[in-house]
Amino acid sequence: MPIGVFDSGLGGLTILRVLRRAMPNQSFLYYGDTANAPYGDKSREEVQRLTRAAVERMFEQGCDLVILACNTASALALRDLQDSLPRSQKRRVLGVFVPMIEALSGARWVRTPQSKGQAPAGRRRILFFATPATVASGAFQEELHKRLHDAEAISEPAPELVSALERGDHAAARASVTAACARALGRSSETPDAAVLGCTHYPLAFDDFRACLPAETELLSQPDIAAASLARYLERHPEFEDTQGELRCLTTGDPVMFGELATLFYRQPLRFEAA
Ligand code: DGL
Repeated sequence: MPIGVFDSGLGGLTILRVLRRAMPNQSFLYYGDTANAPYGDKSREEVQRLTRAAVERMFEQGCDLVILACNTASALALRDLQDSLPRSQKRRVLGVFVPMIEALSGARWVRTPQSKGQAPAGRRRILFFATPATVASGAFQEELHKRLHDAEAISEPAPELVSALERGDHAAARASVTAACARALGRSSETPDAAVLGCTHYPLAFDDFRACLPAETELLSQPDIAAASLARYLERHPEFEDTQGELRCLTTGDPVMFGELATLFYRQPLRFEAA
């Protein structure tokens, strides 16, 4: 029984790569909605409709657990999907924000916390970089404040970054990162304690973000956080585990073209099938 990993396109392969390295015996089904990407400038309704269609397809393919690796889908569609899943069903859909907030706070919430916590000293001022739709949704701040009432988040979109990274245009990617960091730092009255890259594509520009942010600002890696969080989830829910170590990759776009492009994100070739 594979665990589903969903992304709007190929960016989620940065997460899949780390998941597979951390859990080599676990089977995964990757689904990239490349025909409809990017999601980062779509409306909430559109992202909900597309994400629901993809998750249903992954359920049909045998996944009982689906991870929305896509931050935009996690921000705009996760709650809607979770609310519509009958509690009696074994199927689960998880997003990527709660693991990031757990990593920021050093605490773990198995369920929604009853009381609000305090951000640890040194993790109070947080920069959050994401797509325009994710930033506009306010979902990260909402989840953050539910759990850490005194944390202060400055969210900044990097509008051209996803397309620059997909084109492999390093100069444009660097320019987008430089501009987003300058805007975010300009809005922060003090040196930020931590920065989160809230988009599956952004790990490809990790070094550029690192170079543009103060050395005191800790830069968190979403793929590592997602992998650690899934490993803990599987300890509590061994019913979702398997030991086949298989991988299938589906795309709504051209399997040959996206199989070749995937190397950029996965660092080795992958064979894609039509979704
Ligand atoms: N995968 C999306 C995310 O993590 C970004 C790419 C897109 O705009 O579709 O937010």
